[in-house]
Amino acid sequence: ELGEHRHYMHKEIFEQPQAVIDTLEGRISQDHVLVSSFGHQAEEIFKQVNQIQIIACGTSYHSGLVAKYWFEDIIGLPCFVEVASEYRYRNPVVLNNTLFVTISQSGETADTLAALQQVKKIKQEKNIATLCICNVPESSLTRESDLIFLTHAGPEIGVASTKAFTTQLVALALLLTAVGRSKGLMTEKRENIIVKGLQKLPGLIQKALEHEDVIKEMAKCFADRDSALFLGRGTMYPIAMEGALKLKEISYIHAEAYPAGELKHGPLALIDEAIPVVTIAPNDDLLEKLKSNLQEVKARGGQMIVFEDEKSNVDSEGNMRVVKATSNVGRITAPITFNIPLQLLSYHVALIKGTDVDQPRNLAKSVTVE
Ligand code: F6R
Repeated sequence: ELGEHRHYMHKEIFEQPQAVIDTLEGRISQDHVLVSSFGHQAEEIFKQVNQIQIIACGTSYHSGLVAKYWFEDIIGLPCFVEVASEYRYRNPVVLNNTLFVTISQSGETADTLAALQQVKKIKQEKNIATLCICNVPESSLTRESDLIFLTHAGPEIGVASTKAFTTQLVALALLLTAVGRSKGLMTEKRENIIVKGLQKLPGLIQKALEHEDVIKEMAKCFADRDSALFLGRGTMYPIAMEGALKLKEISYIHAEAYPAGELKHGPLALIDEAIPVVTIAPNDDLLEKLKSNLQEVKARGGQMIVFEDEKSNVDSEGNMRVVKATSNVGRITAPITFNIPLQLLSYHVALIKGTDVDQPRNLAKSVTVE
């Protein structure tokens, strides 16, 4: 079943172009997102939505964080994101006309389910609709939601989530477009650009996967390290968080993600020759600011790995190693594509460390207890 792959995680990383194709299949028609992919009443529900509340755990939470940037930046709709284990145990203020979105690979995560059940108690009174983005049909979360969107990633066996995350982001981009159009917050032109970008994704991911050999080489600098820092700005901040989570869960190296602008508010004190710093540097509006953050790290001797695109032109001198990971800078496609080299990096660090990649210690694929 593993074919040419040593681990399920590796197989699943390489299945991502196909997983994206399968998730888009039947959801787009002639450059338009089919709003009905979210359910028959989706359009009517989306029209009434005034804000989005996303609830999830772990990797699924990170996909929600990326979506927050998209919703607020691209269609100006407020979007709140919180981990389920916090949300369910406080008394959150739920605004009228909220679209309550749970994101889950398994559909069985106990905290996410409890958060959904809690909000359902005030559903009528507050005109709340619930949507579940899930990889498993007939799961507890899908059974309890008004609207369902299935990510067609196929079974994910490796405990570390890879292709499920990528397809969650695709689902969220489709949701952005479907809500944007239903509410008149997105022009047809913008929708067409997003759809074209999504259709290019399988190819972009394929290209990013081709950097495996270079990344494998870079993984060596983590062999005798016990801590690493991941930096990004904008949507690359949640992607940095996901990169750090992947590294810690499969290689057991402590890793932390920071929005690069926060460096001088504390973490800069950590930087010395012993700490690898991984940065995602697309050629976007924040690049110049990010480059000055990189200089701050460089000046303190940090071992740096930078993933950039064809136009970023980060100087690769001294302790800074730069990989042109992609040609792409689209607001939707860039975070999805830049996540790929981070997955490969953690995988190869774990191989060097000799950990159990598919079954990391202390973790379970489906967290059905709180
Ligand atoms: C990390 C990972 C976990 C899950 C989390 C939520 O690689 O797999 O962090 O993302 O346990 O699980 P689901 O998505 O099934 O609700």
